[in-house]
Amino acid sequence: MQSTGNDIKITVDGNTICYDDFGSGTTPIIFIHGFPFNKSTWQPQMEALKENHRVIAYDIRGFGNSSATDENFSINLFADDLIKFMDALQIQKSIVCGLSMGGYIALNAVNRYAKRFEALILCDTQCIADSEMVKDNRYKTIKEIEENGLNQFATNFIETAFCEETLKTKVNAVNTIKNIILSTSQKTITKTLTALANRQELCFSLPQIFIPALILCGREDKITPLKQSEYLNDHFVYSTLHSLDKAGHLSNLEQPAAFNKYVNEFISILNPATVAQI
Ligand code: MLT
Repeated sequence: MQSTGNDIKITVDGNTICYDDFGSGTTPIIFIHGFPFNKSTWQPQMEALKENHRVIAYDIRGFGNSSATDENFSINLFADDLIKFMDALQIQKSIVCGLSMGGYIALNAVNRYAKRFEALILCDTQCIADSEMVKDNRYKTIKEIEENGLNQFATNFIETAFCEETLKTKVNAVNTIKNIILSTSQKTITKTLTALANRQELCFSLPQIFIPALILCGREDKITPLKQSEYLNDHFVYSTLHSLDKAGHLSNLEQPAAFNKYVNEFISILNPATVAQI
């Protein structure tokens, strides 16, 4: 049975997982946020799509209002959480939409639990693992955070994540993201940096994925650049790529209207009966 609303709590693998669940439809769209954010970053998509679809956004363990047990994090663990979360909500199949780290989790889950997914939406993400240089940077960042806290990390992240135009014109959105980072526990951030550094490359798997994929990427994404999305699009069996002008790494927040239009078009093709008027 579906509980509808904001901030619903459910126990998954010993953790409280907090989620929003709106709308109705046979195959829900599950949104997975990036690092180090929370489910609220999907609000423009939840609002736009809930009239015609069941939409669910959850806080990954340790983020937002979800709790985390002591064990180490990994992308495998987060992907297992997604499946256990779907089990707890009695969702047999979903359309999964992940941004950046959310995309790593979605791609991992689709690989290991193919039957549980009808379609895949990957936003500002990639299939490569970290290079040695990127790993070293993550370990330096962990040390920096342990010594000095989150302030400098949050400032650097914001400056890299958003495009120039967003930094100038969407000051409230930028500050909201900064506050989300600052309100995330230091332990969650350092444990996730380690999980990101240790994640496996999944590029080999793309030609073996037979569900349709939509790929979206901000043209000015400096963290997971557009060429990574082009690679995904060149190697999936069924995929479409759209790049978004005046958007960096958080394309869903920087250009929500264009982003929602592409998502809606994609879902409508999967099931023409559910065309949303957005
Ligand atoms: C994210 O937005 O999820 C992260 O920037 C991903 C990463 O650092 O690889």
